Amino acid sequence: MTYTKLKRVDLIFDQEVNPKEILQKAYALSNEEIVKEVLESGLRGRGGAGFPTGLKWKFTSEQPSDERFVICNADEGEPGTFKDREILFQVPHKVFGGMAICAKVIGACQGFVYLRGEYRFLLPELKKQLDSFHEILKSLNVDFRIQIIMGSGAYICGEESALFESMEGKRGEPRNKPPYPTIAGFRNKPTVINNVETLVYAFMILRHGSQKFKDLGTTDSRGSKVFSVSGDTPKAGIYELELGMSVDHFVEEFGDGDTKAVQVGGASGFCVPRKSLGKR
Ligand SMILES: Cc1cc2nc3c(=O)[nH]c(=O)nc-3n(C[C@H](O)[C@H](O)[C@H](O)COP(=O)(O)O)c2cc1C
Repeated sequence: MTYTKLKRVDLIFDQEVNPKEILQKAYALSNEEIVKEVLESGLRGRGGAGFPTGLKWKFTSEQPSDERFVICNADEGEPGTFKDREILFQVPHKVFGGMAICAKVIGACQGFVYLRGEYRFLLPELKKQLDSFHEILKSLNVDFRIQIIMGSGAYICGEESALFESMEGKRGEPRNKPPYPTIAGFRNKPTVINNVETLVYAFMILRHGSQKFKDLGTTDSRGSKVFSVSGDTPKAGIYELELGMSVDHFVEEFGDGDTKAVQVGGASGFCVPRKSLGKR
């Protein structure tokens, strides 16, 4: 594969959007057209497993049920990661927008944001933003409401089925799979659970069309990604970058000139030692 040069992208933070306009545009489409757009973009979940988002939405919408749910996974427990916190802090309306579009596709009337316990300080502002968002939904005659549920402060509750258990008031332990959440998730109903970042990308894909996202990244990993950079670096922070860069390009940009290793994907990811850098 050929690596792209490190390229900054501004789909998440910098683009001012009018949520109402994007929702109106999305509601004018059929559910099949929305799924097609998300599928064609190549968007894969940003929560870790990389499952195609459009397929998750499609499977859940096809599951017969009287009730379906959409859940935003904002548990962000991986040590060293803080991208979801920043997204929720800076652009919560884009997260809620992604949830509302998903809700239309799967026929959900209720959505939940499962917010990491340590992020309680975000709650007052998030609730304010949510009130404004609910006003927009009301003005569009959309029957969908979002509730914020505080996480229980356990890393394992970020795992989707443990998260459902926690939301149901039980001990946060993973369930056996299958069945997957698309069939039996929260309260054993068909559920879409997506990471914060995934939902924002879905929203922005509906704004711009799939091509803009698809044009970025590689064949297997389309689009861009938000990176939390921390540790022995002079440039700690949040960066949205096009996928497909090499670790050594990354080190050139973010290292301190004497980087010994890069821990990729947090503590449960993997470690790239210096001797492996430079192998493109
Ligand atoms: C131990 C464990 C912890 C996890 N923690 C998180 C988390 O904090 N946030 C998250 O979005 N996904 C987390 N996941 C992945 C979720 O189970 C799930 O795959 C994800 O929320 C799906 O969203 P996506 O399709 O948008 O990636 C975790 C998985 C495991 C196994």
